[in-house]
Amino acid sequence: MSSYVTKKTPGDTAWFVQDRFGMFIHFGLYAMPARNEWIMTWEKMTQEHYQNYFDNFNPDLFDAREWARTAKAAGMKYAVLTAKHHDGFCLFDSKYTDFKSTNTPFGRDLVKEYADAFRAEGLKVGLYYSLLDWHHPDFVIDDRHPLRDHPDAVEMNKQRDQKKYAQYMRDQVTELLTNYGDISILWFDFTYNTVVDPVKYPYFAGKTKEDWESEKLIEVARTLRPGIIIDNRSGIDQDLSTPEQNQPDQWPRHKETGELLTWEACQTFSGSWGYFRDEMSWKSPKMLIEMLCKTVSLGGNLLMNVGPCARGYLDKRAVNALDAYAEWMKYNSRSIYGCTMAEPEFKAPKGTVLTQSVDGKRLYIHFFSYPFFNFMMEDMAGKVKYAQFLHDGSEILYSEGKPSDMIGERAADNEKAIYFRVPTVQPDVLVPVIELILK
Ligand code: GLC
Repeated sequence: MSSYVTKKTPGDTAWFVQDRFGMFIHFGLYAMPARNEWIMTWEKMTQEHYQNYFDNFNPDLFDAREWARTAKAAGMKYAVLTAKHHDGFCLFDSKYTDFKSTNTPFGRDLVKEYADAFRAEGLKVGLYYSLLDWHHPDFVIDDRHPLRDHPDAVEMNKQRDQKKYAQYMRDQVTELLTNYGDISILWFDFTYNTVVDPVKYPYFAGKTKEDWESEKLIEVARTLRPGIIIDNRSGIDQDLSTPEQNQPDQWPRHKETGELLTWEACQTFSGSWGYFRDEMSWKSPKMLIEMLCKTVSLGGNLLMNVGPCARGYLDKRAVNALDAYAEWMKYNSRSIYGCTMAEPEFKAPKGTVLTQSVDGKRLYIHFFSYPFFNFMMEDMAGKVKYAQFLHDGSEILYSEGKPSDMIGERAADNEKAIYFRVPTVQPDVLVPVIELILK
């Protein structure tokens, strides 16, 4: 059994750490300008301007079942959809706002269709809910808000009552956790204690857990769904630590107690969360697979993002990226599901990362760079029963203690090592995996 114990959390993460791989979906009005989900505030758009997107929102090619099938084919086991993002636009039929998909020409409740379709494919359903809201009249303007440079911003804030907004969030979270069946994850985003430029904006403050009334918000969620997984971005530690667009080099730990945390890296294909037409920085298929392997090798989950385009489908670039996962996961998912960081006794050979099944019986070597002819693992003699490539189940020959069939001085004898022979030519797999059945 794996010896790693994570900090206890209020929710039920047992299924989550088994499943390891999920789909993040950022969809909303910002898919129309197609230049990032922050565009409203970056370009300091007025509500009137943004209303243009609302009035024309009609993702006629949206098909939740197709999203779900694509996610499933890619090997993803759960999903998290933006029920509301920072612009305040809701993809669900909330009775607390008019700013929702059901009031656009599209007229449909996307959260409902998403939840039904993903569940039907056997995926767990999660929802992202933005704590920021640039539409709500009571959300106090701050330095991230589109109205930050409005001459009357400070004056306007006098009319705004953040408490009313906090109540609005509780009401909406209640709707989301009541009307859409079993919701497994609630992903709040985000808390910022500081003002980025306090010299320019001396009259604004950041937003803290007090402003969100996070404690009450979480209580609402836990009362409705006690086992739900909640992230840590409301400013109160819950179930998940969520490093964003970076890949940790170590299993993240609690700052004070040093305990290992349950964690989930969230990543994009190209840099933006929302659909970004002109973005050219798409990650290579190999890099995408490496991110997944590396995450699991450090005991984490990967939540990989798609930003469907304004007509509601996943564009070719996203489909190609997901295909890379589909192709790889079809043959190699055994090194991902139910796996975690390898026990400390196992040292990863150069250019590889290791995962190990939680029952301790199987060890997986993922080759980010393919070895020439052979490779060695120290302190392994006597521990392996059988070795094979994972993708095709073909045997990998090895010898213990000395590199038996190696010529000359290529490798020194090392009694405790195992020397593996690999084919000279890398099999046609972006990241080949060797599975070791342990004694
Ligand atoms: C950031 C961004 C947001 C995105 C999120 C995903 O907090 O504000 O646009 O939804 O990260 O992790």
